[in-house]
Amino acid sequence: MNTDKFLSGQVISQQLGISRQAVNKAIMSLRDKGFDIESVTRKGYLLKSCPNVLNEEAIKSYLTTKFIGKNLKVFETIGSTNDYLKELGSKGAENGTVVVAREQTTGKGRLGRVWQTEKDAGIAFSVLLRPNLSPAELSSITPLTGLAVCKAINDFCMLDSKIKWPNDIIVGKKKLVGILTEMSAEFDRVEYAIPGIGINVEHSVFPDEIAHKATSILLETGRHIDKNKFLATVLNYLEDILIKNNYRLTGEASVEYGNLCATIGRQVTFARGNRNVSGMAVSVNNSGELEVMLSNGTVVTVNSGEVTVQGIY
Ligand code: BTN
Repeated sequence: MNTDKFLSGQVISQQLGISRQAVNKAIMSLRDKGFDIESVTRKGYLLKSCPNVLNEEAIKSYLTTKFIGKNLKVFETIGSTNDYLKELGSKGAENGTVVVAREQTTGKGRLGRVWQTEKDAGIAFSVLLRPNLSPAELSSITPLTGLAVCKAINDFCMLDSKIKWPNDIIVGKKKLVGILTEMSAEFDRVEYAIPGIGINVEHSVFPDEIAHKATSILLETGRHIDKNKFLATVLNYLEDILIKNNYRLTGEASVEYGNLCATIGRQVTFARGNRNVSGMAVSVNNSGELEVMLSNGTVVTVNSGEVTVQGIY
């Protein structure tokens, strides 16, 4: 983006090989889309600012990845980025394909819930991964994705976000990010895994039902971040973490996850059969399962479902 130099209509028309009339029309259309363009007689046009709207070229310009986001599409409106990417995945779309939405009309959360994505308030995106893992090893994808998102947020927004096992990123006691991973695998072969990520960015208020447990980057920092640069940062972190750790929650990734996990060291309650069980969360193992010590000293593993963390939600 060039924000310090006027360009005359003549230069623009010559460079793009279009008529002066077409330049005027394009400038009007860009202004309608939220670009702030000043025009001064005999000097031309000056681009003063771009709208803070998700855009393919802008995201790609900040990517440093080898495969994530090489194929990337932004939709103004879509049902669910996960659903759309599952369709692409079953038709052979390439590893690292990313689908981003400015708005979702049927966004999905975990456990059959709805994930609201109003236009340009949050960032909703899904990443197609075709890792060389066995179906049993796929459980590392969600924690590795959570780790990448958490680190990107802390770096880019200078926040102290944490991971609420297994899928949420929180700031303080409130949820900032939700992750829904869907996969397709046969008994010995993985077709794809799709982590779908919803980040609350520009929300200044939330509906009454969730206001006590939801937050946004704007609410936490008081700042409007550049959504394109931020999303590229998340994708850069994701690829880096996946490659460095060979898609596994072992070694450095496992230590980092433990350090950023707000659930560990807290009292948790979860469903076992048809009763609720409580205990102390002690660690997350290499399969991404939560290890919980019960009052009688036995350690049980919890691998999915709803876990209530005392003092959080
Ligand atoms: C949760 O916390 O329940 C998970 C929320 C996941 C929401 C994201 S937004 C992008 C992707 N597309 C969807 O339909 N859901 C995920």
